Amino acid sequence: MKNSAEIQKRKTFAIISHPDAGKTTLTEKLLLFGGAIQTAGAVKNNKIKKTATSDFMEIEKQRGISVATSVMAFEYDGKQINILDTPGHKDFAEDTYRTLTAVDSVILIIDCANGVEEQTKRLMEVCRMRNTPVIIFINKMDREGRDPFDLLDELESILKIKVRPLSWPIGIGGTFQGVYNIFRKELNLFAANKTKISADIISIEDVNSSEVDEVIGKRPAETLREELDLVEGVYNPFTRESYLSGEVAPVFFGSAINNFGVKELLEAFLEISPSPIGRDTNEGFIEPGNPEFSGFVFKIHANLDPKHRDRIAFLRIVSGKFERNKFYNHVRLDKKLKFSNPTSFMAQDKSVIDEAFPGDVIGLYDTGSFKIGDTLTEGALFSYKGIPSFSPEIFMELENKDPMKSKQLEKGIQQLTDEGVAQLFIQQPGNRKIVGTVGQLQFEVIAYRLENEYGAKCAFVPKRYFKACWMTTDQTAKMDQFIRAKSQYIAKDKDNNYVFLAETPFLLQMAQNDYPEIKFHFTSDFKVGQEA
Ligand code: G4P
Repeated sequence: MKNSAEIQKRKTFAIISHPDAGKTTLTEKLLLFGGAIQTAGAVKNNKIKKTATSDFMEIEKQRGISVATSVMAFEYDGKQINILDTPGHKDFAEDTYRTLTAVDSVILIIDCANGVEEQTKRLMEVCRMRNTPVIIFINKMDREGRDPFDLLDELESILKIKVRPLSWPIGIGGTFQGVYNIFRKELNLFAANKTKISADIISIEDVNSSEVDEVIGKRPAETLREELDLVEGVYNPFTRESYLSGEVAPVFFGSAINNFGVKELLEAFLEISPSPIGRDTNEGFIEPGNPEFSGFVFKIHANLDPKHRDRIAFLRIVSGKFERNKFYNHVRLDKKLKFSNPTSFMAQDKSVIDEAFPGDVIGLYDTGSFKIGDTLTEGALFSYKGIPSFSPEIFMELENKDPMKSKQLEKGIQQLTDEGVAQLFIQQPGNRKIVGTVGQLQFEVIAYRLENEYGAKCAFVPKRYFKACWMTTDQTAKMDQFIRAKSQYIAKDKDNNYVFLAETPFLLQMAQNDYPEIKFHFTSDFKVGQEA
């Protein structure tokens, strides 16, 4: 395998959670361990304030900071770790889904008091579409929370994934004494301490030894033994294969703010998580060891300075070695491009790199050539699959408020939707522009940016659509008939695919009943997308 040592060295993953479960805190602790930051608080600013929904400066600030923290790379124990940041704000959910296509595994954080929450469910659905391996970290064990068995049952039933605890908590909240690390057969003792890096660890070969009673007390020791017996009885032994195939999620307990369980999580992660894996293309599967360079763009960031239209395209390298100033194929445009200033994101400093390997994410300066999902290759021409669009939740028609600036509006909305800020659907007659987003915040971002970067003024008129449904059929005559019959609810997406804009679940159901030959999908990725 070409570049084998470099590939084996890398771990590219994301930390995901419902807001407030502890993603920022855990990310920061991992960066502290890796020496990528020196002080706590450095990552904190990345959070958009929950009250900021109409504060444009806050949106701009968020954009600025999130470029810097989009990828956080550091070395630890001979490995290169690439953490891809995902926005915490739910209105940026689609950005998060796309980022998940660029990682090889995830760490999911659960708040021990809240269990599975709304965002947790959605994020896990996306992981399950691609069988992404998941490690679960149950956080805030220093606070009163729910019974661990209840939490594990809830994870299994709601997230539809099997779990396997690899550590077990001793008490919770006021009685929390630490965890027994099943993976390493160690007792890790908890002391609330935000600066200490590691817990006191006692190696215990046999939990029945009296040493356990002496250290944590007789009653808690008995409870621990009973619970561990139950764990071994209920859950199958852990295998790395079942984790790598996305069937079983190993579970750890800890307290990120107190650095407790974080080092253990990181070390287990380094041991079991996958090195960069290949991706599917329209010409078959490409392995990371493939000697020719290839990669795909999963995120585009506009320059903060409106006078400079350049943007940064984030490219995940899938195979081969990327080299500065070498010509590569931009497959969609059928063009050769070279990059003189590709950047890496080591230790939060953007720096120009000469080469990069599978698993790495690099930033490419772009003057408008890239769309999300674009593929770059060195030799053969193929395109990576699987940057799906998900049906938006909110739809508005874009109205031009300044007829003198219609060209600017046109260009602006095209570029913003290429960046993935929102989805654009075009409806006939009249080329009407329907903008779809996951959250309200995007409309404010669009209006603000159209005005500030393109000099165009717009208004949004709410449309009462429930979902955009992509359609497939093997009976084209039926599809044509449907499109004619429902023409006022039909639009085209950015790739010229027809979508049905269903006004209510009932009307979608009617369409399904009347046209059983047509399948309706809530994502543009039909192979893996759920049927509506
Ligand atoms: P997020 O990125 O997932 O939204 O969560 P974040 O890390 O910001 O954590 C949310 C809140 O939970 C923060 O408190 C944080 O300090 C707290 N937290 C994180 N891990 C633990 C833990 O292990 N135990 C306890 N008790 N709390 C934890 P906050 O009050 O919102 O912010 P701050 O005032 O502490 O900065």
